[in-house]
Amino acid sequence: MFPEQLFPRPGGDFLALLAALPRHLDAAMPMRKQHRRELPGDIRRLSHLLTDERGDLRRDYLSDPAALSAYMRYFLPWNIYRLGVLFNGLALDPGGDAPEAGATVIDLGTGPLTAPLALWMSRPHLRKRQLTFVCVDRAPKPMRLGLDALSSLAEGHGGLAPWKVTLVKGPLDARLREKADLLIMANALNEVLHRGEDQDLPENADALAQHLRSMLTPTGALCVVEPGVRPSAHLIAALRRGLLHHGLKPLAPCPHTGPCPMSGRGYTAWCHFNFEAEAAPAWLKKLSDEARLPKDNVSLSFLQFSAKGRKLDAAEGKSLVRAVSGPFELPAPEGVDAPRRFGQYACSERGLTLLSLPRKHLVPQPGALLEAAWPEEPATDAKSGALVLPMSGDASPRPSGQRPMGQAQPSPKPTPKAGAKAGPKAAPRSANGPRRPTAPGKTPQGKAPARQKGQALTVESMLAEGLADELAQDLGAAATPAPRPSKRLPSQRPAKPTGKPAGKPGPKGAAGKRKGKA
Ligand SMILES: C[S@@+](CC[C@H](N)C(=O)[O-])C[C@H]1O[C@@H](n2cnc3c(N)ncnc32)[C@H](O)[C@@H]1O
Repeated sequence: MFPEQLFPRPGGDFLALLAALPRHLDAAMPMRKQHRRELPGDIRRLSHLLTDERGDLRRDYLSDPAALSAYMRYFLPWNIYRLGVLFNGLALDPGGDAPEAGATVIDLGTGPLTAPLALWMSRPHLRKRQLTFVCVDRAPKPMRLGLDALSSLAEGHGGLAPWKVTLVKGPLDARLREKADLLIMANALNEVLHRGEDQDLPENADALAQHLRSMLTPTGALCVVEPGVRPSAHLIAALRRGLLHHGLKPLAPCPHTGPCPMSGRGYTAWCHFNFEAEAAPAWLKKLSDEARLPKDNVSLSFLQFSAKGRKLDAAEGKSLVRAVSGPFELPAPEGVDAPRRFGQYACSERGLTLLSLPRKHLVPQPGALLEAAWPEEPATDAKSGALVLPMSGDASPRPSGQRPMGQAQPSPKPTPKAGAKAGPKAAPRSANGPRRPTAPGKTPQGKAPARQKGQALTVESMLAEGLADELAQDLGAAATPAPRPSKRLPSQRPAKPTGKPAGKPGPKGAAGKRKGKA
């Protein structure tokens, strides 16, 4: 069972489908030559709107044709890449307990059906399963285009059937007839919950958690994914509190049900995972370069919860630990000729945890779930407050022959100077010898050297590059508060079906649309 990988290298079938995606996007939404020429600029503008100028973002921002094209050609494919990798890592399997009975998947804030597209592309065994998708969004046009793209994609594989897709135009808190075996909400939480330290956040997050729980079947699971930026992780942590309060338990990534030690509050660490973008198709990388939004890595925060959750017991004398950050070199204690050690931020029932390993190649892949034995009196890292967990590397994942995502390239040269500068004084030595590292997301007072193109991401290089902002642009994330929703979820009425077909279903696929109201 252990260690568990959350971000496996994408498979050839998934990558081939992504490479061919433009053909299906063209089928759904043909683009004139001039639009194509303007696309990089439109992508850039939408990226700014979704990040720096978020306050100006209209509720119906995707009704603008240029913005919609930009979303379909850039944000949709990158989101499919991220979700596809994660869905595989989580082994999402709606209906897996009784495959012949089928299952219902509800996708809230579906946009152009990003999550169903990602599931279809990354989990091929699901294509022949009786899955009913209920896709909810207040913007109908992206949903229709997404359905056309999905149908076009499925045409070459015998059609969309037995999948059934129903489009529901309505708010995210619409009360639906269906209950979800799998409830997905991808990149929409930041448009529903407001940001920051606002005192209303816990109450709003709790109300949303209660609503999400009410949409699940007794054995259903939910999967909420957000861009891997601090404000989104902060919302995720607030939602997590609400989900726990309403009786749901973690499947991933949390290895415990205690308070989240990476909630992104203030300048604290935030729970997010980076993995390589290297495997993304050439056309998408080229378009990203043209839009001046190139990327080597992608990032996300997420929660997967269900009523039962996962077994959180570890073997006798051990704890479950989730590796979170990338590897970084722990600065050597000043004036001591100690061997180099490598660190990684992680999460455990004891809170923020700093893994300390003797070799870089032993540092677990971000997202790995480990069992580890704590020393009797673990040292506390002075800067981050993390408990230091020395490891021999025995619990590190060693997938045979497969290069793990996120550790493919050599890391930049160690940055002991930057680490040393980050604190007011030379770092105190902890039990296993490291000088103070910088916690993920901590504001550095010292500047680390920039990462070379192609080099692996480290905490220092992320901070040096202000990568959080770049990642926000990638995902259409909000870096400033989104328009506030009403404090409580509005009262709910069941959504009414219109029974009319939506978009062009595949030759054998079934699709319908209806309006949902809150
Ligand atoms: C950034 S897009 C994400 C789309 C898609 N899930 C993805 O991952 O690419 C956010 C979507 O949430 C929808 N949305 C935001 N707030 C909503 C609300 N209160 N009710 C319904 N839809 C909402 C928007 O219309 C938009 O399509």
